[in-house]
Amino acid sequence: MSKTHKIAVLPGDGIGTEIVAEAVKVLQTLDLSLELEQALVGGAAFDAHGHPLPESTLKLAQQADAVLFGAVGDWKYDQLERQFRPEQAILGLRKNLGLFANFRPAICYEQLTHASSLKPELVAGLDILIIRELTGDIYFGQPRGRRTATDGHFPGAPEGFDTMRYSRPEIERIARVAFEAARKRNKRVTSVDKANVLETSQLWRDVVIEIAKDYPDVALDHMYVDNAAMQLVKEPKKFDVVVTGNLFGDILSDEAAMLTGSIGMLPSASLNSQRQGLYEPSHGSAPDIAGKGVANPLATILSAAMMLRYSLGEEAAADRIERAVQQVLSQGLRTGDIYSEGTTRVGTVQMGDAVVQALR
Ligand code: IPM
Ligand code: MG
Repeated sequence: MSKTHKIAVLPGDGIGTEIVAEAVKVLQTLDLSLELEQALVGGAAFDAHGHPLPESTLKLAQQADAVLFGAVGDWKYDQLERQFRPEQAILGLRKNLGLFANFRPAICYEQLTHASSLKPELVAGLDILIIRELTGDIYFGQPRGRRTATDGHFPGAPEGFDTMRYSRPEIERIARVAFEAARKRNKRVTSVDKANVLETSQLWRDVVIEIAKDYPDVALDHMYVDNAAMQLVKEPKKFDVVVTGNLFGDILSDEAAMLTGSIGMLPSASLNSQRQGLYEPSHGSAPDIAGKGVANPLATILSAAMMLRYSLGEEAAADRIERAVQQVLSQGLRTGDIYSEGTTRVGTVQMGDAVVQALR
């Protein structure tokens, strides 16, 4: 038997518990030695322990080879002080585990071309990889806070402030991740910034250009973020690998995901320099459909496949899961989010069962 892989399973809130259960079922179908341990995170952890990322959950994640994460958040926590909100759990995990490299593929499955809000010919065959820097930028930059303005347009008025910042090594390492990824794909990197306005972005651009010299086989171009947002809906197939900072990546990855018409299909990976990773669907906790058994578990199942490939070195098992997902789509099985006329509507558990069947 191969090495035992330790996986921390953190389902979280809303549909998180339902979709993670299906991914766990799929993992357990494979002939692998896995040690799965589950813990509370997000609102569920706040309710039970008074904190969205309890010490015990963080420790479990730190000691695991990989984290399988569902989703966090619910409207009922919106009034809490920021430090207690469910979102702090995912930000805390990213920061504490040093998960600086976020992979967000936007793939339009052939069977789902008509689910996109764009014309089918614009998205058919779409396969973009967004690489988002995940532990820097305005998300974590200090100082930040509230104060009374002493200058600006309204001195004396209450103001909020955040700090956008990137250091050279932070940009270098994410640029290398992007170039390496592009080498395994179509050898094109688009770096997205706002260098016409921001100092952070000018440094970003300078460093990316410098690192590109080590990758002469990869073509590099640069785009301002506003133009990138436009090009993504105008001609999305022009992109191969997109590398960008934390804030721009947050926005562009949602946009790219929606191009595929099926955010319920898209996995993601967040890795640190030891290839320890957190794997989660690109979508959120969807409190409006939680508990109804209708959520699409495929993004989480595909995240488990990414986990096998990137953190656990189980490439063959990852391939098998991805083929099984293709197979259930080809059989015409669809959850509500990807349903169209002429296909068969199934629930969360049925979809998970179908993937398990396809694996057998
Ligand atoms: C994401 C989410 C998070 C982010 C939130 C939940 C903090 O939108 O993973 O894209 O902004 O990074
Ligand atoms: Mg987001």
